[in-house]
Amino acid sequence: MRPAGGSALLDVEIKQKTFVTAAGERLEVLRDIGFVLGRGEVAVFVGPSGCGKTTMLRIIAGLDRDYRGRVVRPPGARVGMVFEEPRLLPWRSVEDNVRLAAPNADGARLAALFAILELTQHRTHYPGELSLGLARRVALARAFAIDPDVLILDEPLVSLDDVLAAHLRDELMALVDSRPVTTLLVTHDVNDAVRLGDRIFLMSSRPAHVEAEVPIATPRMARGENEIAAIKAMIARRTSGNRTATTRDAS
Ligand SMILES: Nc1ncnc2c1ncn2[C@@H]1O[C@H](COP(=O)(O)OP(=O)(O)OP(=O)(O)O)[C@@H](O)[C@H]1O
Ligand SMILES: [Mg+2]
Repeated sequence: MRPAGGSALLDVEIKQKTFVTAAGERLEVLRDIGFVLGRGEVAVFVGPSGCGKTTMLRIIAGLDRDYRGRVVRPPGARVGMVFEEPRLLPWRSVEDNVRLAAPNADGARLAALFAILELTQHRTHYPGELSLGLARRVALARAFAIDPDVLILDEPLVSLDDVLAAHLRDELMALVDSRPVTTLLVTHDVNDAVRLGDRIFLMSSRPAHVEAEVPIATPRMARGENEIAAIKAMIARRTSGNRTATTRDAS
């Protein structure tokens, strides 16, 4: 699964990841996951709930080193991550949460980010004053603010309304097109997968591995509605029965 051309930036080979549960049982979560992402590629992962997607992302981000295998990130790469839960510091304002993560980001850039994410009027608010959707947007701002080379997004658009989710999807696309950001996105939403992904990986149930990569002929920005519909249908066919993927809207 090596991308044609370009330097391979992110090389993932996870042979095995197991947890020991509180009851003392071994739980094998990941087995033989391997892929290489080229610089700036956007990989989308779709898989059943509980199969191990978050576990895989945490390993790739370097947050969990207790596994067999290897993950080669580019030396010095800045990694931005948005978790399923926003994980903001409750005693810091929205603005400070972002500034603490990105102390070198200049004011104009932060202002633009807050505007894009419709957070300008919330800059002085504290996380306890935010809805979950707003908190998710702050988590996105925090990840973008560091100007990441690798961006890891774990269901970042969940719990946002359709209009805002579509808007943020466009913003995400603009961001990853503005400079090469190698991106890994986990989603259950087929629209997000098809509209954002350069490559779409379908993951198996636990222990998770990449079951298939959906072939896509056209670059993301050039994909027409017919092709988008065909890719969605292919994902739906391949994931039918395991409630892996849903569709947020009818588009
Ligand atoms: N720290 C842990 N200790 C023990 N088991 C864990 C731990 N973290 C996760 N698990 C188990 O590992 C499996 C995979 O969890 P993970 O969160 O990676 O799934 P997921 O694919 O992200 O699911 P979802 O789509 O619901 O977010 C689950 O069975 C989960 O209960
Ligand atoms: Mg998860």
